[in-house]
Amino acid sequence: SGLSPAISIEQKGVSHNPRSTVGTVTEIYDYLRLLFGRAGVPVCPLCGKPVEKHSVDEIIDILFQKNEGKKVDILSPVVRGKKGEFRNLFLQYQKEGYLRARVDGTVLWLEEEIPLDKNKKHDIEVLVDRLTVMPERRERMAEAVENALALSKGYVLLAFEDEETIISEKFACPECDITLPEIEPRLFSFNSPFGACPDCNGLGSHQYFSEELAVDPSALPLEGALLPWKNKHYMLRKLKSLSLHTGWNMDRPFRELEPEIQSAILDGYSVRIPLTYREGKKETSYMGRYEGLIPWLETRWKETESESIRNEISSYRSEDICQSCGGRRLRPEALSVRVDGLTIGEVVDMPVSELLDRLLGARVHEFMREPAKRIIEEISKRLSFMVDVGVGYLTLSRRADTLSSGESQRIRLATQIGSKLSGVLYVLDEPTIGLHPRDTARLLGTLEAIRDLDNTVLVVEHDRDTMIRADYIIELGPAAGEYGGEITATGSPKEITGRSSLSGPFLAGSESGLSIRKKHLKPSKDFIKVFGAGENNLKNIDAIFPLGKLVCISGVSGSGKSTLMNEVLYRGLRRKLDRNFRERAGKHLNIEGWEALKNVIMIDQAPIGRTPRSNPATYTQLFTPIRELFASLQESRVRGYGPGRFSFNVKGGRCEACRGDGEVKISMLFMPDVYVKCDVCHGRRYNRETLEVRYKGKSIADVLEMSVDEAGKFFGEIPRISRRLAVLKEAGLGYMRLGQPATTLSGGEAQRVKLAEELGKRFRGHTLYLLDEPTTGLHYRDVKKLLVLLQKIVDQGNTVVLIEHNLDVLASSDHLLDLGPEGGHGGGRVIDTGTPAEISGRAIGHTGRFLAEYLDQVKERKNNDRAAG
Ligand SMILES: Nc1ncnc2c1ncn2[C@@H]1O[C@H](COP(=O)(O)OP(=O)(O)OP(=O)(O)O)[C@@H](O)[C@H]1O
Ligand SMILES: [Mg+2]
Ligand SMILES: [Zn+2]
Ligand SMILES: [Zn+2]
Ligand SMILES: [Zn+2]
Repeated sequence: SGLSPAISIEQKGVSHNPRSTVGTVTEIYDYLRLLFGRAGVPVCPLCGKPVEKHSVDEIIDILFQKNEGKKVDILSPVVRGKKGEFRNLFLQYQKEGYLRARVDGTVLWLEEEIPLDKNKKHDIEVLVDRLTVMPERRERMAEAVENALALSKGYVLLAFEDEETIISEKFACPECDITLPEIEPRLFSFNSPFGACPDCNGLGSHQYFSEELAVDPSALPLEGALLPWKNKHYMLRKLKSLSLHTGWNMDRPFRELEPEIQSAILDGYSVRIPLTYREGKKETSYMGRYEGLIPWLETRWKETESESIRNEISSYRSEDICQSCGGRRLRPEALSVRVDGLTIGEVVDMPVSELLDRLLGARVHEFMREPAKRIIEEISKRLSFMVDVGVGYLTLSRRADTLSSGESQRIRLATQIGSKLSGVLYVLDEPTIGLHPRDTARLLGTLEAIRDLDNTVLVVEHDRDTMIRADYIIELGPAAGEYGGEITATGSPKEITGRSSLSGPFLAGSESGLSIRKKHLKPSKDFIKVFGAGENNLKNIDAIFPLGKLVCISGVSGSGKSTLMNEVLYRGLRRKLDRNFRERAGKHLNIEGWEALKNVIMIDQAPIGRTPRSNPATYTQLFTPIRELFASLQESRVRGYGPGRFSFNVKGGRCEACRGDGEVKISMLFMPDVYVKCDVCHGRRYNRETLEVRYKGKSIADVLEMSVDEAGKFFGEIPRISRRLAVLKEAGLGYMRLGQPATTLSGGEAQRVKLAEELGKRFRGHTLYLLDEPTTGLHYRDVKKLLVLLQKIVDQGNTVVLIEHNLDVLASSDHLLDLGPEGGHGGGRVIDTGTPAEISGRAIGHTGRFLAEYLDQVKERKNNDRAAG
């Protein structure tokens, strides 16, 4: 049948754009906009009554419906409830050929004087025609209605003897005299000026610089109270001038100052005062204003182009829900349109599973016309995918950047395969990353269902459960990096297991990442105790972390692990241990036991550098001794080269054509910039003279091209270098090139480089290391290496707390803290704590169950091995 169309799903984080929501990322919101544009019924945003619009034909039909044979006045309501005399208006209508108008309810001749009290409000309707409703008059009626609509810009008033109605050809509320915009999909887009709330431009919130974050009220204004000005002496000098000029006493903590002084410090002082400006030793005086801390921050925020300044001052920003739209991002007209009684704002605020039930309910379909029905089907397919993979508790309005890692992983999948096509080849890159075994099982079920819809699913995976459930495996190897790239085995999981393949022993279970230890070198009796943690979905829980151990926080995706570790534990401890740390900690009552710690260090997956000039060698300080080695060579000493000569960041040794980048940017008109290899140094970053210096035949550029393993052999006899290389290798990075640009490392790789850097330092002791999912993307052998490494850290008198889903890691840890039972609002509780054996013995939650199953397999295997051996 030839090739199927292919859809490839890469591993890329969900965006940090505050305009991305679950609805927009999954594209469900686009369908909702279509639905509301097609089937939406507006109500008046002021009085709440439904508003309708009618074509001329429809208006005539209304006329005929039950009024045949009756007399009707066709009027055009031109003035409603407005003060004035309207002389010119009457004159104008008369000129246009109209004879009569109804003024405040009475029909009058236009050629006669119509005296109106100009201070009173009046209603004026031009009488366009008066006739009896009958089929022969249809054309004349249509003409009259059209004229009436034209005169009043959209309204016609039909007055019979006993009743009258106003009808509009636009969406308009005749009573409140407001016209609604055309109902079309773009009205519901908060990323378009047609739909966005004008107050917040569709963000749903306002950001502002917060006094609470920027001021330490216990310090003196000139000595550290104003945190953003810690190193801004010129601003503090202005403040000092202000205090001299006004005579205000600022030798008190900020919180004890009079409100008037506080407000001047924060918001500025409007009168010009004598200020001084210093350049070197010269001081100039001038008259100027003291700007105030908050306006100063605002200006910098708006004007700076520097990423680092932005990052720095963004920590003083806080966020409030927009009062105009209540956080719903849309203008009032959009929020007054309903489908089946719901506004689009209400729809996106419903949990996905609830919304799906509602859409599938009969009530909706009754009033639906065909196109709307089809849209609803598309929406339902995508929603049901989300429910299938276990994120039915999320709402479509949730900001994408607040999702937990497993949630965003599945949301991305929903975007690509949620439409449940058939005859497609789907390519997925590690879809189970960040998922608990329970969530993985669910996801695999969904992927199998997709396969059964006549699709092909090709998955890149390290995960054992996924491999075992595959129909066919293609194994690449034999090792990582340049040692790989060949197909080493193919077949069903059974066949692969039987054959001499690389993954065979792993699938059979005779090899694993387990590193279980019997006893500790340095047991500790201390604990960190967190009380009343309530951030995000946490349910005011208490959590106890034993020190001197390898502690794992486990739980299904969305259960609250990252919230507990990153927002509560990490920030809470930093606030205790580090006076300069101002970031707000996640909600909790108290933390006890922190006195036993000297340090808390988070090793996250953020890049190790933002430019290609950073690389593993520079980041781990490995490059310094290498450059020193090159500078100490005979050849260098003869030529007078110091270590700086071997840096590609400073003038001297680097290639000046590309300034050490190895590549040059070519700006293309109307197109993205293109990078090409520097044709002077051919990408080697150094000039010819520098490259002539060789150690054991290799130049500095050759060294940057080496993998950690190669470099390990090459520098074996030089402890200062080989010691650092050894930790990189231990962290599972033996295949990584020393000069690999920071921008090309995966999150997991960056995290392991940081870990190695920590290990390269002499051990501190009494330090708490925190890691969120460090085994992401690791092969089981590397999992084991990483475990050994972490256990080594613990043995040196430190504590490691990690978040993990990997069963080898959970089983090898000293202590588990299991959160759950489910994700989102169904989670946030402590389900069980204890050793892996205790947790699996009780098997209370999902983790306990999966761990018990896994440990049983391990035991069984051992017994088999023993029997066989
Ligand atoms: N700013 C926020 N607003 C609302 N809900 C949030 C916010 N941040 C996180 N959540 C929700 O709180 C719950 C817990 O999130 P958390 O990131 O702690 O989960 P997790 O256990 O680390 O999951 P994972 O294994 O997927 O990383 C999730 O359902 C998440 O969507
Ligand atoms: Mg998480
Ligand atoms: Zn109204
Ligand atoms: Zn708003
Ligand atoms: Zn160059």
